[in-house]
Amino acid sequence: MRSLSFRVLCLTIFFVMVSEVMIYTPSIARFRLTYLTEKMDKAHLAAMAIDGSPDRIISQELTFELLDHVGAYEIVVTGPDGDTRSLSRPMRPPGEVQISLYSPMAMELVFDAFDALFQTGNRILRVTGPAPMESAATVTVTLDEFPLRAVMYDYSWRILTLSVLISVFTAALVFVSLRWLLVRPLERITGSLVAFRKRPEDRSTDLDDRARRDEIGVALRELGLMKEEMRAALRQRTRLAALGTAVSKISHDLRNMLATATLISDRLSMSQDPDVQKVTPTLVKAIDRAAALCSTTLNFARETPPLKLAPVRLAEIVAELNAELVAPADGAFRIVLSEDADFVLQADRDQMYRVFANIASNAVNAGADTLRLVVREEGGRLLVDIVDNGPGIPEEGRGRLFQPFQFSSRRDGTGLGLTIARDLVQAHGGTLTLERTGASGSTFRVNVPLRATA
Ligand SMILES: Nc1ncnc2c1ncn2[C@@H]1O[C@H](COP(=O)(O)OP(=O)(O)OP(=O)(O)O)[C@@H](O)[C@H]1O
Ligand SMILES: [Mg+2]
Repeated sequence: MRSLSFRVLCLTIFFVMVSEVMIYTPSIARFRLTYLTEKMDKAHLAAMAIDGSPDRIISQELTFELLDHVGAYEIVVTGPDGDTRSLSRPMRPPGEVQISLYSPMAMELVFDAFDALFQTGNRILRVTGPAPMESAATVTVTLDEFPLRAVMYDYSWRILTLSVLISVFTAALVFVSLRWLLVRPLERITGSLVAFRKRPEDRSTDLDDRARRDEIGVALRELGLMKEEMRAALRQRTRLAALGTAVSKISHDLRNMLATATLISDRLSMSQDPDVQKVTPTLVKAIDRAAALCSTTLNFARETPPLKLAPVRLAEIVAELNAELVAPADGAFRIVLSEDADFVLQADRDQMYRVFANIASNAVNAGADTLRLVVREEGGRLLVDIVDNGPGIPEEGRGRLFQPFQFSSRRDGTGLGLTIARDLVQAHGGTLTLERTGASGSTFRVNVPLRATA
């Protein structure tokens, strides 16, 4: 009952019935007009019998016979020069409804037809109209309305039966063609989608009639392409997941081994041998860097922990960053928050700190000495532009900034910082984008909802 085909079936029946009603309305009016005109013709013919008789007098018997034939109480034909011929019954009832057939109006005809249909008792009609074969003569007939209504009912029934038959037949045709053209392919697409969701790797449910040139064909082709892309992405994801697990394990074990190496290098640094003294700092640094790399990789491989939401003051984060970030060798590094930007947002404080720390440390490493935070609120979201005065991001890295391990211009950089920052912002329902970069500096934009939801 809820299927598309069933609804279309009902709608088609309904629409055909509506159009049948629209056809019926003028046709019932015309039917009544024809009936009355035929009566006038017959009446005129009957009156002509008077002309044919000697002395223009006919017997009462013939008069009744002629009136019966027309189905009238009285017939009067008036010629252009005023002469009248009339046939009438002695006890004729007076006319109750006057009808003129001289140039009738369409609306009037329709109204009169329905008026006649909805009457209950019999009415006496007095119909006046032009004589059919005698120019300028007028025929007036007095007759019962009841027989007219009976044939009108009969006609209406026939139209109704025909309409029902036509609408059922049309609806059946529309139903079959729609099912064939639309509903069946849609059902197949739906089935294929459901099967794909359950078992994406199973190709046996893929649809192959992609040669269709209509919209269904386009949908099928796009669906096929989408499935292939999804399968490729899934394969890639599985591979990456396996790789991630392997890298995590390696990093973990490597970090333990490096801990041992750190112990040994610490002991080495106590050695009195000048040669050893000379190389140990380099060795210690290298081992520290390797250990740091292992830690970052492990951190990245871990799922982002669920958000611990609390009110976070942006100004506090900036103050902390100013205190913690190591200034570049040749001067002080400063982070300035634009005026009137003391916003409080609902977020995970530690994660937000990591976001800004990653972006700020990149600027420090690139050689910037100031970082300006320009903040504004827009439709319940906070837009923080982080503007540095560094040398800009190298051309070749711009397209891969947010892909893990893909780009780093530093010797000991992993190329993870921005990816991590972006993931953390996304976990808050926000976005991190590079807005501008060039010789005079770069601008990153953090766009987060003022109230994140966990
Ligand atoms: N503000 C900036 N100015 C200039 N270059 C930048 C800036 N921010 C990022 N970069 C460039 O983008 C690269 C990638 O940054 P990302 O933070 O992802 O990795 P990283 O800093 O190299 O390593 P880490 O994982 O330790 O953060 C950097 O190496 C640097 O070349
Ligand atoms: Mg970085």
